[in-house]
Amino acid sequence: MENKTFVPLDYHPPSESEILENTFDFRTQMDKRRSVRFFSDRNVPVEVIRNVVMTASSAPSGAHKQPWTFCAVSDMDIKIKIREAAEKEEYENYHGRMSDEWLKDLEKFDTNWHKEFLTQAPWLIVIFKKSYDLNNGGKTKNYYVSESVGIAAGFLIAAIHLAGLVTLTHTPSPMNFLQEILGRPENEKPFLLLPVGYPSDGVVVPHLVRKAEQDVLCWF
Ligand SMILES: Cc1cc2nc3c(=O)[nH]c(=O)nc-3n(C[C@H](O)[C@H](O)[C@H](O)COP(=O)(O)O)c2cc1C
Repeated sequence: MENKTFVPLDYHPPSESEILENTFDFRTQMDKRRSVRFFSDRNVPVEVIRNVVMTASSAPSGAHKQPWTFCAVSDMDIKIKIREAAEKEEYENYHGRMSDEWLKDLEKFDTNWHKEFLTQAPWLIVIFKKSYDLNNGGKTKNYYVSESVGIAAGFLIAAIHLAGLVTLTHTPSPMNFLQEILGRPENEKPFLLLPVGYPSDGVVVPHLVRKAEQDVLCWF
């Protein structure tokens, strides 16, 4: 029984200087992360994908419900179906569904409804969130589902970056087609779609400036 069983925490306290160094190193590494929209078709071993997904699945979650499923797709026929469905939605988004303000905000990315990366990247990871679980024909509740899955997605993006690979947080809204193409049960709703792989040769990314400390951090 998992209920009310406690085990010692596996924790070995580092020195204060090690902690400072760890945080500095991690910050420096993570600051180099960028969203990439052009991928090489170079293969990424399945074991790497397993490792990054299981890192994501180690995330905290409301009442430890772990309300997520990760679908790892390398099958080209399925990737083509996903790309076609995503481009259909994105065509509508770029031709009327997105507001002028939204389109203006996207100008600096030079994006459009074409989503080549969905077939270029060797892997697509589709994250599904589960508002409830299906158990023996019944439904059981999950808690703080978006928060939990968002944290897991953050772990995944960090793991992909630290592995030396690149990804894009992609949201071809609405994303219901992913549930259909991947045959997911009714309690799973698509959350994010992430192509994963190596960047294409000579790839460029938009010049973006991140907010400064005084704009994001308040001390009390
Ligand atoms: C929730 C979310 C949804 C996003 N959706 C898209 C998307 O559909 N297409 C896209 O090209 N970029 C998408 N992005 C990527 C952002 O444009 C990108 O993270 C942002 O411009 C900052 O750039 P950086 O990730 O390189 O730091 C999304 C990011 C987030 C967090």
